[in-house]
Amino acid sequence: MTILVTGATGNVGRSVITQLLSAGASVRATSRNPQADLPVEVYAADLAKPESFESALEGVEKVFLFPNPPGADGFASLAKAKGVKHIVLLSSQAAAHESYGDSVIRTRHVTVEDAVKRAGVDWTFLRPGAFATNTLYWAGAIKKEGSVRLPFADTNVNPIHEADIAAVAVKALLEDGHIGAAYELTGPESISQREQVSLIGAAVGREIGVVDMTVAEARAHWAKQFGFTSDEALDGMLKMHQAAVGKPADLTTVVAEVLGRPARTYAEWATDHKADFIA
Ligand SMILES: NC(=O)c1ccc[n+]([C@@H]2O[C@H](COP(=O)([O-])OP(=O)(O)OC[C@H]3O[C@@H](n4cnc5c(N)ncnc54)[C@H](OP(=O)(O)O)[C@@H]3O)[C@@H](O)[C@H]2O)c1
Repeated sequence: MTILVTGATGNVGRSVITQLLSAGASVRATSRNPQADLPVEVYAADLAKPESFESALEGVEKVFLFPNPPGADGFASLAKAKGVKHIVLLSSQAAAHESYGDSVIRTRHVTVEDAVKRAGVDWTFLRPGAFATNTLYWAGAIKKEGSVRLPFADTNVNPIHEADIAAVAVKALLEDGHIGAAYELTGPESISQREQVSLIGAAVGREIGVVDMTVAEARAHWAKQFGFTSDEALDGMLKMHQAAVGKPADLTTVVAEVLGRPARTYAEWATDHKADFIA
């Protein structure tokens, strides 16, 4: 059985490949960059151009799918036509909750989930909350200034280690019993961003400062980071953060249930990634 991993150069995809290889699976990868440095055969393909998957899908039984709305319908129906039996999709917790409204984060993942359902291939949806890897965004400032500027540092998050998302993906790809499941995946703890910075400090062996942004600075930061241009979008972000301060983040126990061991903590993630935070 050959398994195709898309988004293979990404944080989750790389870990899916490593863990599939450890389990002895036959794996191939796609990237838009045919020279991508990966431990398996790489086919050049772009999810926005489904026809570019003609050769990569030849003889493939299962797919780990990166969520890319443009081309999602075309990819899913080509996969079905090529004989793919099961797609394990990297989706998002936002797809599980109508409270995310018509935000981009919800609509992009619902769009790809719907495309996979429409194609008539068996599926498993992975719906993670915030990735621990989001904090790699702080690495530049931590390395350069020894501190990080944060909007609403006391907001709580439920960060999940990319290797745990990948481990659930690998179970779903290799074991029976996961078809039709939509797994909402979080890390094991609700912690504040300020605590995350402190745990990175513990991993690298030095104290890292947190500088709290003013509301005006936070708005400018979100505009830059997420490309928000309207006051309405920025007001929405502000309200969401203000409401979340001091409120525990929602947690699920799905990682532990599927894997039969606890999900990795943020402290473990920071230790695994300490090299990213050392100049
Ligand atoms: N960050 C979060 O908190 C969070 C939470 C829930 C869900 N998610 C989902 O997880 C995704 C990020 O996953 P990640 O961290 O593993 O990825 P990543 O490290 O950000 O890497 C991005 C990957 O996307 C691939 N990609 C982008 N556009 C593509 C296209 N048109 N065709 C084929 N591949 C394409 C890239 O492949 P190439 O090799 O071709 O460049 C690369 O492998 C987000 O985009 C979101 O959908 C994120």
